[in-house]
Amino acid sequence: MPQISAENPDGNRVARARRFLMCRPTYFDVTYSINPWMNPTRPTSAEAALDQWERLYDTFVKLGHGVSLIEPVPGLPDMVFAANGATVVDGKALIARFRHRQRADEAKAYAMWFRDNGWTEVRQADYLNEGQGDFLYTGDTLLAGCGFRSDVRGHDEAREFFGVPVVSLTLVDPRFYHLDTALSVLRPGEVMYYPAAFSAPSRKVLAEYYPDAILADEADAVAFGLNAQSDGCNVVLAQQATGLARRLRDRGYRPIGVDLAELLKAGGGARCCTLELR
Ligand code: ARG
Repeated sequence: MPQISAENPDGNRVARARRFLMCRPTYFDVTYSINPWMNPTRPTSAEAALDQWERLYDTFVKLGHGVSLIEPVPGLPDMVFAANGATVVDGKALIARFRHRQRADEAKAYAMWFRDNGWTEVRQADYLNEGQGDFLYTGDTLLAGCGFRSDVRGHDEAREFFGVPVVSLTLVDPRFYHLDTALSVLRPGEVMYYPAAFSAPSRKVLAEYYPDAILADEADAVAFGLNAQSDGCNVVLAQQATGLARRLRDRGYRPIGVDLAELLKAGGGARCCTLELR
């Protein structure tokens, strides 16, 4: 089993500039349902989604992160959730293979973006995996979710492609169908998560690796507070997740609340909108 080092939880938090790929929700809509949040009979507004997304984009830019953009494709309303397009570690990109046909073509768009932007180690995954929705990099290890979207065989594929240890975690609550809806890496060695989203053996693994983790309650989890993007100091998360924000502050982090209620109608939040480029 790989070692995940746990540092002393106090002391100064250090922000590290990140590079993200994001996709404007120009064609945002909920026209199908592939997770319990999506109700196609409920009205959506691409304009409201755009507005909220622009604020999220500005937040990352103001924090000093670099943001590249991929052109949205008509007919792919979930493409705004860039996290799902690929997993990137040390300059290598493993392109997603989506479980649902409604999102399948996003993989082509993301593969093309990487190739067009000079990435040379780009591989289309053989097994189902939804990119950084299910793969969370801790700095030396990939935490890998399965149970709803990604095939567990994809975890081996990632281990082999990236040459890093992979820790498989099984999700059991359909509301938290991607790992990044149930767990967030705050910095190497520190995470926050919602225990009930995981199978009993996975809860045991998490408790062993992260005895000091912040445990979210259900209210913060359903507000998508765990779908957060941390740079090691600033933690961008749903503004409705007030309990988590308080606990992050207590640990020395700087929570930054954003309203992404429109995107939540598709079952996505702050982290879903960003694909980290490493
Ligand atoms: N509607 C999208 C889906 O169900 C939302 C994806 C959210 N992305 C994420 N990284 N959790 O596939």
